[in-house]
This record gives sequence, C-alpha cells and structure tokens, in this order.
Amino acid sequence: MSDPILTIENLKVHFQIAGGLFTKKQIVKAVDGISFSIMPKETFGLVGESGCGKSTTGRAIVKINQPTDGKIFFEGRDITKIKGAELRQFRKDVQMIFQDPYASLNPRMTVGEIIREPMDIHNIFKTKQERENRVRELLEIVGLKPDHIRRYPHEFSGGQRQRIGIARTLALNPKFVVCDEPISALDVSIQAQVINLLEDIQEEMGISYLFIAHDLSMVKHISDRIGVMYLGNLVEVGESDDVYRRPLHPYTQALLSSVPIPDPKTAREKKRIVLEGELPSPIDPPSGCVFRTRCPSATEKCAQSKPPTVKVGNRLVACFLYDEN
Ligand SMILES: Nc1ncnc2c1ncn2[C@@H]1O[C@H](COP(=O)(O)OP(=O)(O)OP(=O)(O)O)[C@@H](O)[C@H]1O
Ligand SMILES: [Mg+2]
Repeated sequence: MSDPILTIENLKVHFQIAGGLFTKKQIVKAVDGISFSIMPKETFGLVGESGCGKSTTGRAIVKINQPTDGKIFFEGRDITKIKGAELRQFRKDVQMIFQDPYASLNPRMTVGEIIREPMDIHNIFKTKQERENRVRELLEIVGLKPDHIRRYPHEFSGGQRQRIGIARTLALNPKFVVCDEPISALDVSIQAQVINLLEDIQEEMGISYLFIAHDLSMVKHISDRIGVMYLGNLVEVGESDDVYRRPLHPYTQALLSSVPIPDPKTAREKKRIVLEGELPSPIDPPSGCVFRTRCPSATEKCAQSKPPTVKVGNRLVACFLYDEN
C-alpha cells in the first residue's frame, strides 16, 4: 500500500478572541486534537454541524490558519515548518475551493484573468500566449465556453461561478484540493453537476480531495472515507458506506437519523434521534467527551476523561461504548 499524501497528527487550532471592557480574553478551541490521513487519489469527506471546526481544519491544511499544536505532513514533510522553495511548491500542490462562489471571485477581473492569475503568480509557462491557451483548455475542462474568457463573474450563475473557481484551482495542477462545501450555495439541480465535474477531474488528474460538508448524505457518494467532527473533535472515521449504513458513534447516529429518507416504509421503521440541548461553545467545551452533554448513552465516566479512539473493524471511534479496557 502506498503512503498517505496527507497526515494530520493531533492538530489543534485555537483562536484568541479579544475580551470586552470587563471580560477577559477567551480561547476558542475550534479544532482540538484531531488525527487522520488521506491517501493519494482518495476523497475524504469531513462532516459535522456548523461551527464544529471543518473549515478551520481545511484552512490549516492550506496554511491559512496556523496550527496551535500538532503536525500536518504533506507527502511526508511537516508543512508547518516549510519555507522558501518548498513552501512555493506546496502552494502549487495544495489548493482550496471555497463555499461561496459569489464572494471568492474578484468582481473586477475577467474570467480569463481570474483563471490565469495563479499561473502569473507562480510563473508557469514562459509566454502569455501559452497561459491564455491553458486558460482556454481549463474552461473547456470545467464545461464553460471559450468566449466566456472576457466576461466578468457577475454575468454568470452560481453553478458557472463555481466552475470558474474550479478552473482557477486547477490552473496549477494541484495534487490535493480542499473542497470547503463547494456545492452548498448552489441549487439542488446543479449540485450533482458540480459533484460529477469534481469526480471526473479527480479521475483524470489523480487529485486527492478533502471534501467538507454539513451532512453525510451529501458526501456519501463522492467520499471513499468519512470523518465525523463534533466540537473540534473527530468522533468517527470509516469507509463511507459502512459509516452510512451502520454508524457507531452516538453522534454519527443522531446526525444520520436527521437525514430524510425517501422511502416511507424505511422512514417509519427508523427511529429518529433528536439531540437534546444546545451545542456547547468551543470556548468552554464540556469536560471528558465533548458530546456527553447531548449524548443519550452518556455515563459518569464520560465526564471524567476523554474517550480514547479505538478500532472497531476498520472503523475508528472515539467513544467509551466501544472501549474494552
Ligand atoms: N479567525 C477566527 N477567530 C476566532 N474564532 C474563529 C475563527 N475562525 C473560526 N472561529 C471559530 O471556530 C469555530 C469553528 O469554525 P469553523 O469555521 O471551522 O466551523 P465549520 O465547521 O466550518 O462551520 P460551518 O459549517 O458553519 O462552515 C467556530 O466557533 C468559529 O466561530
Ligand atoms: Mg465552514
């Protein structure tokens, strides 16, 4: 088996937020000690409720957010420490597609300029003509027309804008792309088209994806494996179909039970787990297991210490229910 392209070890990203006149500075534990690996050409789906730390994880991987602790290895090198030529190469190899196709494109640049810009910055190709040719090629790959090159982002629909963003991402031939909810802002009718495009591109170019989404049903089809996050922690990791069919962690079970099922018979048989209580704040997370305050199976033990991540078959679960010691 080949080595992972990306390995995250005990990653923590904490933010200090300024206090008010009478309040102290506070620490937001956005990501609080997560570990996982992604293999070459693999799609790893990362799911969880709003605010659980998905984007922060993705942003740490592309070096927008500085880790507070832990390590991130890309092709075996710890990227938290790279500089100079290594850093420049990393900036080419690892790209990010953002959630909002409206905010992520510069409204004053033409589509051609937007897609060409990364090549200009990284000095790819010797002549402008070569870059222009590549822009046309990229437009074709993402299913846009060559004459779109001189138009501005506002002249396009949301789905088309996301295609422009994808073309820009591909301009540098990346090996790894963080897709941060790339389809959530799009109409349901065009979500599938963009997913298919991302899958075709992966097939053709052999890219690995970290694919971030709110709910499991959205990432199930595109992901090989899925990681489930809750309040800065990774609670379960497993093969996509396995996790979907037989969720082990009580949080994954709750997350899945809220997904509507089209078949009324199965829907009737399925017990809906409603999570009680509010999502705790990452400023003051619960002691022990962070999910215990909303967990139907919580015991006293869960308040005392953080559950270890244990292997159940080829699944990883951080829950005392599966800990045999
Ligand atoms: N720069 C920052 N400064 C302070 N707090 C931050 C910063 N960035 C993120 N946070 C906080 O960290 C937590 C995790 O945020 P993050 O954006 O990673 O969540 P998310 O899982 O991507 O949520 P969503 O699904 O809504 O996009 C949130 O509580 C957020 O408010
Ligand atoms: Mg996010």
